[in-house]
Amino acid sequence: MIILKLGGSILTEKDSLKPKINLDNLNRIAIEIGDFLKDHDLKDEGLIIVHGAGSFGHPYAKKYRIGEPFPDSEYPKKRIGFSITHNSVNGFSGVISEYFIENDIPAISIPPSSIIKSSNKRISYFNLDLIKDYVFQGFLPVLYGDVVLDDTLKMTVISGDQILSYLAKNLIFEKVILATDVDGVFNKNPKLYDDAKLIKVLNSLEDLDSFDSTTNVDVTGGMFGKIQELIELADLGVESMIINAQTPSLIINALKGIEVKGTLIKSKLESFSG
Ligand code: IPE
Repeated sequence: MIILKLGGSILTEKDSLKPKINLDNLNRIAIEIGDFLKDHDLKDEGLIIVHGAGSFGHPYAKKYRIGEPFPDSEYPKKRIGFSITHNSVNGFSGVISEYFIENDIPAISIPPSSIIKSSNKRISYFNLDLIKDYVFQGFLPVLYGDVVLDDTLKMTVISGDQILSYLAKNLIFEKVILATDVDGVFNKNPKLYDDAKLIKVLNSLEDLDSFDSTTNVDVTGGMFGKIQELIELADLGVESMIINAQTPSLIINALKGIEVKGTLIKSKLESFSG
């Protein structure tokens, strides 16, 4: 089984104040996945897509401060904020599935707010049986960063990365692919330092010389949050790779298992044993 995470920065204009889809990327990615599935049966292979929210989620989650503690007097405003945020990311996911369906992919968009609950921002309940049933029947489940009910904070935001990491820990995957808007993980911020180098294999956060976690922060943690989740996963024996989804053919090649430019995140123990 393969999980492919499509970052919000790939599928949307992430810095746009209004929700805006990057249709060029979405169209090309849907074609690449459709092409891959022409000679790979979803029923045998198993593929799950998790996508980010980008400008369909972050601006609303920030505006309504979803995930921050609040007094009961603010409940009505928070509830509306929750509904607005969910409705926006849900509609976005519907459009993504539409593009997949046009490419003959039996995509089914599943709202995480309907099958996930959390406790202090961490997933505490996840209806995995439903996901497994869709996969066994040859569907392509499409999950996404969403708002969910939280038994400590009443409501919170769950990132696509946390969903991906939960799935990878609780189901068996051969491959976890993160498609982002950068070539992979660099030792320094490549936008600020000319001598930033792409790290081909990452074992721990210590491999990053000067990771400036403040340059890429959104409501769910930005790149730093992603790497933390992936290292945790690597320590449990699940390898993952970060690739640039803006480079044509990288997604289809990564799905096919062809070596592509990017960062492989694997545990220290495995790299010692070769
Ligand atoms: C955030 O999801 C979800 C909401 C803000 C509702 P992600 O954290 O997975 O989204 P991206 O990939 O950063 O855009």
